[in-house]
Amino acid sequence: MDKKRLNILVIGSGGREHAIVNKCLESPLCKNVIAAPGNGGMEEIIECFPIPADSVEELVKLAKDEKVDFVIVGPEIPLCLGIIDALSSVNIPAYGPKKDGAQLESSKTFCKDFFERHKIPTAKYQSFNSLEPALEYIDHNTAPIVIKASGLAAGKGVIIAENKEDAKSAVHSMLIDETFGDSGSNIVIEEYLEGEEVSIHVIVSDGSYLCLSPSQDHKRVGKNDKGPNTGGMGAYAPTIIINDSLQKEIELSIIIPTIEGLEKDGINYNGTLYAGLMLTKSGPKILEYNVRFGDPETQVLLPLIEDDFIALLYASALNQRLPVSIKISDEKCMTVVIASQGYPMAYPKGEPIYLPKTLPDKTSIIHAGTKLDSNNTIISNGGRVLNIISRDSDISKAARKIYSVCNQIQYKSKYYREDIAQKEIKRLEK
Ligand code: AMP
Ligand code: GLY
Repeated sequence: MDKKRLNILVIGSGGREHAIVNKCLESPLCKNVIAAPGNGGMEEIIECFPIPADSVEELVKLAKDEKVDFVIVGPEIPLCLGIIDALSSVNIPAYGPKKDGAQLESSKTFCKDFFERHKIPTAKYQSFNSLEPALEYIDHNTAPIVIKASGLAAGKGVIIAENKEDAKSAVHSMLIDETFGDSGSNIVIEEYLEGEEVSIHVIVSDGSYLCLSPSQDHKRVGKNDKGPNTGGMGAYAPTIIINDSLQKEIELSIIIPTIEGLEKDGINYNGTLYAGLMLTKSGPKILEYNVRFGDPETQVLLPLIEDDFIALLYASALNQRLPVSIKISDEKCMTVVIASQGYPMAYPKGEPIYLPKTLPDKTSIIHAGTKLDSNNTIISNGGRVLNIISRDSDISKAARKIYSVCNQIQYKSKYYREDIAQKEIKRLEK
């Protein structure tokens, strides 16, 4: 591996990117790190440039102007717009897949056809561009049934319809009322899968891969998984539901066929494969791939990595083989997302936030939707605002540390779920 020290640019503004910046700061490979656009927490520690994550041309210009040696792309939008291709054309190594590979996330139809072509276990499905055949398909199948906008919809384009009537109205709203704009002009209708949901993040480079700890997110906004879907309200890793033999089965039936399938399709895929899996009675099945790290999963995966995480990403950007294994802590890591009351619908912004001066052992605060005002006070600036993260050999202790911090944080519209990791704690008690 190239041992020169790197000027790194991190693209994005969420908790995921703040966690990546923290890893850069502790990496022996890193000379300096900057971010675009960043958030209040990143602004406190590094230089941030106010360029949105979807302004590909401006970001490439920034990387050239600032003599950046390595770019780490956080969110999916710049990947789907082809930022890796653009950086590659000016010879700047960057972590993430090119536009062809990013289609796994930018088009659910592409992704499902890929699963079918390569015999990767997934829910039975069909995709549609027009109303009549979609309605007919619903008539010939049983409810519950899942309707998905094929394009990017910020995690909101999936409707689980309890009956055929709701399914038909979801199809109508996507194809005719265009509720998801162009993202819903093509839809996937698929079988509802029952089971426990789990995510596995995989770093891929030159056909080699490394799996990070299996994690669980909490997608619904409310306690006991009630209310609308969000980007994720809390996470933990590793989860005990994935034991060694299940991990092996997932790698053999899903991860390896994916990497081989990409190669067969002529896609040179380097970057993250974030597999959203359902553990069904008939074995693990894949719901979807994301082509970037999850948020808030990244915030619990990175603190467990004891080797140089940035070196792994840089190796992938250079298309080098990855090590066969890495050192992972045997602790548990957990995060609770502090959001603004109202999220994922309308919520207030611009409220001052007061953080505790001291934190418990192995506990940290990462920023998401925050910024610094003209007096350098932290104010809220998004739906998901902060992440409280803690590590411990015992996940209940990590939870107690986190909730004591959540309680001390002061800001008017503070909201968080009080039951993050409760399912795992109960499983461990059995
Ligand atoms: P996706 O964006 O495809 O991951 O879907 C968002 C969420 O909808 C997933 O995390 C699942 O909780 C749920 N979901 C998606 N597809 C299915 C399915 N076929 N069966 C059951 N739940 C699903
Ligand atoms: N936490 C879900 C996601 O990053 O898509």
